[in-house]
Amino acid sequence: MRDTDLALTVLRDPAFHSGMSTFFGDMLPSRTAQIALGRAVRDLMRAHLPTCRQRVAEAAAGLGPVSQWPEAGPLLVYRCTADVLLHPGVPPALRRQMAQAVSAGLTARQPYKRQRARAELLRPRLLASITGHVRSRRMHSPAAGEPQDLLDAVIGACPERLTDRTVAGLYVLLFQSIVGNIGYAVAWSLLLACLHHPPGPPWPWPAEWLVREAARHRPFVWMVGRRVPHPLEFGGLPFSAGTILSVSPYLLHHDSHRWDRPETFRPERWNEPGGQGPYLPFSAGPFTCAGAAVAHSLITEAVTALSQDARLTVNGGDARPLVSGSVLPRPFTLRRALKAPARLALMR
Ligand code: HEM
Repeated sequence: MRDTDLALTVLRDPAFHSGMSTFFGDMLPSRTAQIALGRAVRDLMRAHLPTCRQRVAEAAAGLGPVSQWPEAGPLLVYRCTADVLLHPGVPPALRRQMAQAVSAGLTARQPYKRQRARAELLRPRLLASITGHVRSRRMHSPAAGEPQDLLDAVIGACPERLTDRTVAGLYVLLFQSIVGNIGYAVAWSLLLACLHHPPGPPWPWPAEWLVREAARHRPFVWMVGRRVPHPLEFGGLPFSAGTILSVSPYLLHHDSHRWDRPETFRPERWNEPGGQGPYLPFSAGPFTCAGAAVAHSLITEAVTALSQDARLTVNGGDARPLVSGSVLPRPFTLRRALKAPARLALMR
């Protein structure tokens, strides 16, 4: 649906909030179970946010002067969140498999066939290993107390009757949302800022505006769908129960009746009173992304850590999106030269 008024009507219509979120597919039995899982994961990530923040700065410092993006985005986020995703006590082979999955690009649907095949080849093995680990955790450490990692949070929030394989599937879905969605959003923010500002002087925008504008200009999730709960009519068209009706944040963010020069990347618009139109990078209403605040905070931290005291330039990238399951940036090289005091501090 591209008409903004109609899209907003759909998003506000209570009929669309009576069913289940398509985010979890058919892995959970009820909306209550979906909400419980979303909250458990959000609470876990919130509790670990201070540690992740600290690690972002370390991971940025370790990135090196030349890095290949967008894949460096999920790798960076993985480095900051690895211990929250699976605590350090799990078998090292499983953590190695997770790291491999991130390197191969299993954090988003890859747009190039070869890369997608390479990533998807790892999925069955990763799922099998996680399923085995879920089985063992469920048998040996019944959920009690604070979750130690994302897997504990998922196991604790899932109804007991779910199979180990389904729990593993939900875990992988959330792992992808954390590492992939955040990582690619960092990539978009850096690319767009570098393309729209000459190298040398620091960017004239606070990271906050930059991250918001990148998510407006190139929202990672470009389409959100809702299942029509009963026969309905929208915009004069009939929809039968079960049809998926989709609203596109991408199109809403580029509606020239609602945004001033929407095709232009302008972080300063976030400082203009009334300068914003309908904005839904994390969807809207009761199905809004459970991790939105955590995600926004980590993206902003990562962009700040990478750009602070450094001169960033990009080669090979452009702002055209690659639309696969989501909106990915095209490959680019980031050069990061530390300014003198930062270089000295790193050497020390
Ligand atoms: C840049 C980062 C992210 C973006 C752009 C994003 C985007 C979205 C969007 C658009 C939805 C709604 C999908 C729909 O209605 O069909 C969603 C749902 C969800 N997201 Fe995220 N997400 C991000 C990061 C995260 C993180 C870090 C977490 C976990 C901490 C997370 C957990 C969830 C959950 C649990 C839902 C389902 C909410 C529900 O139905 O109750 N997301 N996300």
